Amino acid sequence: MQLQISYAYIVGFILLATRVLAGQAEIGTKGFLTIQYGDEIKGNITLGLYDNTTPKTVANFKALLTNNDPETGLINSTSNRIISGFMAQFGFLNGERLANYHIYQDEFPNPQGFPDEKGGLELSHKKYQLSMANRGKNTNSCQFFITFEQTPWLDGGYVVFGEVVDGFDVVDFLNNDVKTNRGDQPLTQVKVVACGLVDENEDVSELDEL
Ligand SMILES: *[C@@H]1O[C@H](CO)[C@@H](O)[C@H](O)[C@H]1NC(C)=O
Ligand SMILES: *[C@@H]1O[C@H](CO)[C@@H](O)[C@H](O)[C@H]1NC(C)=O
Repeated sequence: MQLQISYAYIVGFILLATRVLAGQAEIGTKGFLTIQYGDEIKGNITLGLYDNTTPKTVANFKALLTNNDPETGLINSTSNRIISGFMAQFGFLNGERLANYHIYQDEFPNPQGFPDEKGGLELSHKKYQLSMANRGKNTNSCQFFITFEQTPWLDGGYVVFGEVVDGFDVVDFLNNDVKTNRGDQPLTQVKVVACGLVDENEDVSELDEL
């Protein structure tokens, strides 16, 4: 028993060390987006969030995931910009292309965004990375994107705050199968029909049943 625990500890440590050496942040909370394409539910994209490295950006994103008001939450929002081989952009609240709501309105009222977190600017944009969209420095709000490939030219200009941990098939579907117009807008609507935080206790009970 003692051996098993220390073995798990060592494996955990090696996994974490590998991530740190690879320049990746530690995953804390996990959130999900349930993606509907036209009338068809394609499944969940599960996102691991870098709570320790980008706490303010993650707090804003968690509020967007859990707010059940389409004016201030991701529920029923769309992806209005998908570029195959590059990324899918989300966070168009109420389908608004210029949506810019965030939770730090007292300090940074609309249309101003909230500041870039340094830790997120230091991370690299790998494939399946979650990063904030912006209109220049310190203009973060509700829009974000998921990369389809490595996009190193974005490093330092956009706050990386998480990564895809499950639902890679859904991301790959967006990359490969969504037809878009010249403005990169999907011809068939890509919609977030449910979203929220992943209940880790649920996962544990599932494991217990095995
Ligand atoms: C998405 O994930 C949530 C939370 O784990 C779960 O309740 C829901 O059933 C999932 N939806 C799909 C389509 O897999
Ligand atoms: C999301 O859209 C569906 C379908 O139009 C609607 O029934 C539902 O009330 C909407 N949810 C919210 C939170 O507005």
